Amino acid sequence: MTDPVTAAAQSELPGKPTSASRTTLSHIMTHSDTNLLGTVHGGVIMKLVDDAAGAVAGRHSEGPAVTASMDEMVFLEPVRIGDLVHVKAQVNWTGRTSMEVGVRVLAERWNESTPATQVGTAYLVFAAVDSEGRPRAVPPVLPHTERDRRRYQEAQIRRTHRLARRRAIRELREKRTAEGLLDD
Ligand SMILES: CC(C)(COP(=O)(O)OP(=O)(O)OC[C@H]1O[C@@H](n2cnc3c(N)ncnc32)[C@H](O)[C@@H]1OP(=O)(O)O)[C@@H](O)C(=O)NCCC(=O)NCCS
Repeated sequence: MTDPVTAAAQSELPGKPTSASRTTLSHIMTHSDTNLLGTVHGGVIMKLVDDAAGAVAGRHSEGPAVTASMDEMVFLEPVRIGDLVHVKAQVNWTGRTSMEVGVRVLAERWNESTPATQVGTAYLVFAAVDSEGRPRAVPPVLPHTERDRRRYQEAQIRRTHRLARRRAIRELREKRTAEGLLDD
């Protein structure tokens, strides 16, 4: 695994601290956000997560960035009408042209001073793109706190697993095709 200092030394662009692009998006949930059970639709939360993560990826990479993948979207608690939802996002890790953005979703009653509870988490990969939609280099992220360094290391583990999973599935498909096994 490459540590962030080595990654920054190898990059063609100067590094940027995690704190430079960390962002919170807040939104009050209303009747138009509900599912058939009367709680907030998961897709509404996922849109906020993608919006917050996209803002972070754009700020960090200083230009357009597109969602390449979203994994480990976890819903811990239902979100209700009247909840003030805070979506906190930051760049956890950077590759050459991609970034992993980690997101925490918190909810509190809009009109009460009780503490917010964590209701979800997600990890998204964004690719920075140029005006033609081609991947472009991103500044290496420089984690400064122990928490950010832990998130960097955990993101590297997820990256390794993502690549291994994609490779294993591609190899299986190639093997099945070579054996003449075609999908129905
Ligand atoms: C994401 C996209 C730019 C990647 O383009 P590509 O030609 O496959 O380019 P690459 O293979 O060089 O990948 C670019 C980077 O993205 C990463 N990446 C690509 N697909 C990925 C995936 N499914 N999951 C995680 N990372 C991915 C690569 O690892 C690479 O990162 P690195 O440079 O840090 O190593 C391209 O697939 C795309 O435009 N997708 C549509 C994005 C979009 O419209 N999103 C909104 C959805 S509605």
